[in-house]
Amino acid sequence: MRLFHVIRAQQFDRELLGRIFSEAREMEELARKGGSNILAGKVMATVFYEPSTRTRLSFESAMMRLGGRVISTENAREFSSAAKGETLEDTIRIVDGYADVIVLRHYESGAAERAARVSNVPIINAGDGPGQHPTQALLDLYTIEKELGHIDGISVAMVGDLANGRTVRSLCYLLAKYKDVKIYFVAPDVVRMKEDIKEYLTRHRVPFYEEEDLKEVASKVDVIYQTRIQKERFGDRIEDYERARGVYIVDRELLDVMQPHAIVMHPLPRVDEISPEVDEDPRAAYFRQAQNGLYIRMALLKMVLT
Ligand code: NCD
Repeated sequence: MRLFHVIRAQQFDRELLGRIFSEAREMEELARKGGSNILAGKVMATVFYEPSTRTRLSFESAMMRLGGRVISTENAREFSSAAKGETLEDTIRIVDGYADVIVLRHYESGAAERAARVSNVPIINAGDGPGQHPTQALLDLYTIEKELGHIDGISVAMVGDLANGRTVRSLCYLLAKYKDVKIYFVAPDVVRMKEDIKEYLTRHRVPFYEEEDLKEVASKVDVIYQTRIQKERFGDRIEDYERARGVYIVDRELLDVMQPHAIVMHPLPRVDEISPEVDEDPRAAYFRQAQNGLYIRMALLKMVLT
């Protein structure tokens, strides 16, 4: 079956995940050899209403390495016709006449779903507000498999802003597809994981634990997935933001209690939640993780366009 829209992490099953990861492995090889021309003649539009570095550039680089071309509006909230009052639906109806695939980042949860309803070309959700970020979760899982050799049986600590972080939400949905996975949520009180995800995990029999002591959790997990406190989602609740930031930090002391095989991940950008001293430790996987984004996005573009 052909992959079309990429909207939510729940849409993937184990079989499809396996296919995406095997394509991504081939893409690593291909990228090393200088890319290919399999997407020659195709055009990808990146329509971004929120800031981005990795997601937009890795999608654009992925498209170009496969011989395709790119059109882009990187600050669509200010510089596209949205600023004149155009609806998202109308913008998508227009862009789908110019491009063969649309990569969309938007500030509202559910935006990608709305776009998919009116689009004749594949929509790839590159983050919809506090909703989801499915391609990030794919590259996160790909990284875990590459670093640890397996996903079944792992325990993962998700740390930081679990209420507003879309990457942890998508990652929970994907992890629920695997066997014997355990999840530890370690979050400041004001940004704890939301009920919808906890209910989903319960329904899918994924054991999860809400913990306060990061050190204790760090000593027993295979993955620490640290996240940024999402300042932009707090609006005028500055006090809540101040209460959440700086509570949980990954530093040298935490590395010391981690197991030798365990890894530290982060979707990036980081602010101060991982100290720079951690970067030199081989268990710091976040820069390799960001690199894997290129291969996963090459794989996805090939799969939706050919
Ligand atoms: C994340 C995002 O945009 O949700 N960044 C990313 O795409 N790698 C995480 C974040 O902004 O904190």
